[in-house]
This record gives sequence, C-alpha cells and structure tokens, in this order.
Amino acid sequence: MAVTLRTLQQCKKDGSKFSVATAYDACFATQISAAGIDAMLIGDSLGMVLQGHDSTLPVTVADIAYHTACVARGNQGALIMADLPFMSAATLERALDASHQLMAAGANMVKLEGAGWLAPTISALKQNGVPVCAHLGLTPQSVNTFGGYRVQGRDEETANQLIADAQALAAAGADVLLLECVPRAVTAKIVAAVTVPVIGIGAGPECDGQVLVMHDLLGITPGKPARFVKNFLDGQASISDAFKAYDTAIKDGSFPAAEHCF
Ligand code: KIV
Repeated sequence: MAVTLRTLQQCKKDGSKFSVATAYDACFATQISAAGIDAMLIGDSLGMVLQGHDSTLPVTVADIAYHTACVARGNQGALIMADLPFMSAATLERALDASHQLMAAGANMVKLEGAGWLAPTISALKQNGVPVCAHLGLTPQSVNTFGGYRVQGRDEETANQLIADAQALAAAGADVLLLECVPRAVTAKIVAAVTVPVIGIGAGPECDGQVLVMHDLLGITPGKPARFVKNFLDGQASISDAFKAYDTAIKDGSFPAAEHCF
C-alpha cells in the first residue's frame, strides 16, 4: 500500500518509527522503496553528492524537478518529498511557482529550509494544496550565515528559539518538521510540543522518523563521515540488503544510537 502523509501521521500517533532516505534516480528509487523505506527525499544534497559542488547553493528548481521525475518513475509506493532549493522560496510567488513544478514532477510534499519567518509561506502553500515539511536547525542553505556546518540549539537561548520556531511552523500548517543537527534534549522537547511528525538527521532517536543521504548510508561519500552517519552496507551482501538494514534499524530503535547523537 502506498505511503501517504496520513501514514506518517499515524506513526506519530502510534509511537512507531518511519524511515526516509534521499533518492535521485529511478534505479535507486526502486531499490529504496522496495526495501520498505517509507519516504524518499529528492534533497538539494544532490548538488554535493551528484554534481560535486561544495555546498547545496548552486542547485536549481529545474535540477530538483528533473530528479523528482526520475525518482517518481522508479518509486514502488514510498512518499516522495522534494526540496525547494536555495532562494526558490524567497518570495511567495517564487515558492508557489517552484512548488508547482516539483509537485507536477511527482512530489507528494515539498520541503523548505528556514525558521519562524517561513510561517506565511507555509500557510500559502497549504492553501494551494501543497503539503509542507519545514526543515529547522542546521539548514545547509544558510551555511554562509552559520559560518560552517554546526550543531544548532546548543545554548538555552538558541534552543528556546528553535522550540518556538518549530511550534510556530506547525501552527502555520507545516505537516512535517525536519530537524538537522540538534541536541537530542532539544529534539525531545520539540517532539513533545508538536502534534506533527518530526524527522531527524543528527537529531536523536526521539524523532518520529529518520533520514540519511543515501550515499552516506551506503558508505560511499568521500571524506570523514559526519557523527550522525552509519554505513549500513558494512556486513551486508547487497545494496538492497543495506537499505533493508537501515529501515529495520530505524524501526527497531537501534539507529540512531548514542554515538550518532549530539
Ligand atoms: O538535501 C538533503 O538531502 C537534506 C537532508 C540531508 C535532510 O536536506
């Protein structure tokens, strides 16, 4: 049966976990969705893992739309989430136009990065029938503002701001939140404070769902892996088995473990 937004909402209600992996092409989309992974994200991480850039900033709406269409053709029933890339939601008009292109390419939901100031954009997207995931914490499109890829919400003031932003975006209509690189104690407060499903990456096991970049979970990203990454191909006989192991580890609560958290 196809995974929908309602499936994720039911997981939140039941206290069961769901799995998400990034995907960018039809062949991997088939492998990922057939392995039982609930949702696939066409992330602007494609700028780094596919295109070789050193940030996600050069990625365009056309890039995401192209890869969303590829993933949709290979999909075996997972929910498809597509990223609004850098500056594509800078005005309401641009956000609506970009979301139109991504939904027409096969997305079931768009994801956008930011903070509390996204509330009016999220409301407008919702009014136009676009389900929204709001990405908070370490938002890689703001790497130049942050001065690097750093854990967010480490002190009381920034943690409280993150919690307030999460509540404001859920109240504005965000269907799902995604927290990146947030201390797990802060995550726990956010997960308890909102009724929408919360996906985490480097945000701890308290989240309702977990996401990793597929190249990271297969251990093929060059360089030192981030603390929150685990290589699921290690000890498996095939890529398909690695995706199944990732899905199982999320659902049985063994991933992320303490060593993957902040
Ligand atoms: O672009 C992406 O792949 C993402 C995930 C890392 C959450 O935003």
